[in-house]
Amino acid sequence: MRTLLRFVLIASITLLTLLACNSLSLKTTLENPKFPPLPIVNLKDIEPERTPDAPYLPTPQAVVLKMLEMAKVTESDVVYDLGSGDGRIAIAAAQKFGAKAIGIEIDPELIRESTRESKSAIAQTPEIRDRLKFIRQDLFKTDLDKATVITLYLLPEANLRILSEIVPKLKAGTRIVSHEYDLGDLAPNQTETIKVGDREYTIYLWVL
Ligand SMILES: C[S@@+](CC[C@H](N)C(=O)[O-])C[C@H]1O[C@@H](n2cnc3c(N)ncnc32)[C@H](O)[C@@H]1O
Repeated sequence: MRTLLRFVLIASITLLTLLACNSLSLKTTLENPKFPPLPIVNLKDIEPERTPDAPYLPTPQAVVLKMLEMAKVTESDVVYDLGSGDGRIAIAAAQKFGAKAIGIEIDPELIRESTRESKSAIAQTPEIRDRLKFIRQDLFKTDLDKATVITLYLLPEANLRILSEIVPKLKAGTRIVSHEYDLGDLAPNQTETIKVGDREYTIYLWVL
């Protein structure tokens, strides 16, 4: 009986010692400046807030310029690129056509990319600083009251949603230019094809 009691006592002391060492070493690790706390990563900053309506695929630069030329963009325009990717259309609208340009993009990584791209564009052309903006947002929730030109490179289903949900709210005279896909039953005012390398690209223009 005494042997059993002694065994239980020794086992309890060993267990308590082990537990104390363990919590001490964890505390030391957390408090040690060599082990700074991990940054708190907000999942909202990594993931798009919902599945994008089109994958990221950049419009070739020559097609970007053609789209903005077809829309006759000038410095009095407010251009919204809905689904702005790396920001190239908005940057060209501000830098080469003098417009105010806003890129709307759902993917936070692409917003970061367009911010990097816009910084180097601003370094070359400082006057565009106040004319260029990127907003991380679902394009279907964007206020487009000030838009005079809308640029698109999405998928057919997204364009149909644009036709039913966005087009009716746009001001008369707003121009829409879309790379690759049309707007369903809404007949375009102009259609152009442009060859870049060995590929042909189609651009549609509507003047509402
Ligand atoms: C084909 S890329 C076009 C990128 C750019 N406009 C261009 O032409 O180079 C389509 C972009 O739309 C974005 N996108 C898709 N659905 C969106 C939504 N609901 N709201 C905002 N951006 C969206 C995607 O993340 C992607 O970057």
